[in-house]
Amino acid sequence: MSLERNLLQNFGVWCLVLLVSSCVANAHNFDDTFDPITRRALVAGSQGHGGGHPVDPGNQSPQVHYKVVDVSKFPPAKGDGKCDSTQGIMKAWAEVCHCNAPSKLLIPKGTWLTAELDFRGPCEAPHIMIEIQGILLGKPDKQAFPRGWWINIMGVHGSFVLAQSNHSRVENLNFVNAKGFNMKVFEAEDVTITNLHITSPDESPNTDGIHIGRIRDVRILDSFIGTGDDCVSIGDGSIDILVKNIMCGPGHGISIGSLGRFEYETDVRNVLVDNCTFTRTQNGARIKTFHDSPQIAAHNITYSNLIMTDVYNPIIIDQNYAVSKPTPSKVKLSDIKFRNIKGTTWSNIAVSLNCSSAVPCQGVELFDVDLRYTGNNTVDKITHSACAHANAKFGGVMNPPGCKI
Ligand SMILES: *[C@@H]1O[C@H](CO)[C@@H](O)[C@H](O)[C@H]1NC(C)=O
Ligand SMILES: *[C@@H]1O[C@H](CO)[C@@H](O)[C@H](O)[C@H]1NC(C)=O
Ligand SMILES: *[C@@H]1O[C@H](CO)[C@@H](O)[C@H](O)[C@H]1NC(C)=O
Ligand SMILES: *[C@@H]1O[C@H](CO)[C@@H](O)[C@H](O)[C@H]1NC(C)=O
Ligand SMILES: *[C@@H]1O[C@H](CO)[C@@H](O)[C@H](O)[C@H]1NC(C)=O
Repeated sequence: MSLERNLLQNFGVWCLVLLVSSCVANAHNFDDTFDPITRRALVAGSQGHGGGHPVDPGNQSPQVHYKVVDVSKFPPAKGDGKCDSTQGIMKAWAEVCHCNAPSKLLIPKGTWLTAELDFRGPCEAPHIMIEIQGILLGKPDKQAFPRGWWINIMGVHGSFVLAQSNHSRVENLNFVNAKGFNMKVFEAEDVTITNLHITSPDESPNTDGIHIGRIRDVRILDSFIGTGDDCVSIGDGSIDILVKNIMCGPGHGISIGSLGRFEYETDVRNVLVDNCTFTRTQNGARIKTFHDSPQIAAHNITYSNLIMTDVYNPIIIDQNYAVSKPTPSKVKLSDIKFRNIKGTTWSNIAVSLNCSSAVPCQGVELFDVDLRYTGNNTVDKITHSACAHANAKFGGVMNPPGCKI
């Protein structure tokens, strides 16, 4: 016992020294943006575009000021694509982790060659963000990755952000029990995300596995995602998106949205979610939009070849987010297809298509849906569809039967 305490105290002192020397050195270096997903809103607001002041009705993103720790300040890290930057980046990580304020590990423009990166907690920093603006490049030799993965993020409270990086590949990452952890990718083109393994506790709030927005030409493939919120959420401005071979659960499903929360949002189109499994998730295929929204659209969305296991809302369109606001959603949903979706559901309403009264859905089609009830309701053991303003067409095998028009 006493030995343990001594060790802890010594660790504390060492930690403090590190803190004083490093945090102070970069103390001027604050990044006063908050959630990077809404950064443009802040900038646009301050320049007075359209007068739309970014108000967050859900007020879920507290404003966080990050201390920025730039890896280029840590030799031997060098963004030249040749030097091995691993040690420098790990030194920068130690500073981020042991700083007692929210801090950001910034990997700036350049190409950063690395071996295994083991970003491990527990950390003192209450919130950590890893922002990659440049390119992280794995070393070509296999010995550089003795444990079989490249970047490991474990037991850390924070988020992983890939921003403004065209032609990016994110592969073979492992996120374990990172409370409040999520990955955000935005303002980019041509991004491929493959072979991620994300597990966080299902009770962790607002921890989307992967959130994308304002982005074009993205592939999210071959990954396992278990989390407390959406496994994948596709935000406004997402165009040409493929989500394929994802195992989701626990979590809240693979969602388009929420859309229409902010004035500046733009359309979503051409999204295909294919060959995914959902295990004990709250939702499966979900589209959600806010009341009191700008007039935007989500068009050409297909969910196909999905397997549901004990999912509460396997197929759900919900245009009544923030329903307390009287103005119905003006996010127009059109050309929305659900095809070959099978498995079991824990709620009787297996298909819920609740569209906006202001802009009814157009071109919603369900084809070959077979969802069996496995919940605990002993009175009603069959599944049903519920529709409002949906104008949906149903074909192929339909269990539950489609809504009567
Ligand atoms: C990414 O590509 C878009 C469209 O080609 C371009 O406008 C943008 O500047 C590029 N971003 C970067 C960081 O190169
Ligand atoms: C569907 O996804 C599973 C993993 O969940 C994968 O094993 C299988 O190969 C995929 N099938 C196709 C046709 O891509
Ligand atoms: C609809 O989206 C899919 C990708 O999900 C794309 O392949 C197809 O070309 C799009 N259709 C149109 C008419 O743009
Ligand atoms: C049904 O009851 C069992 C046993 O009490 C419980 O474990 C399970 O979570 C319940 N299922 C639902 C859908 O509520
Ligand atoms: C649609 O959502 C509203 C608001 O939550 C609810 O009152 C209504 O019953 C729902 N309609 C259907 C058909 O589920």
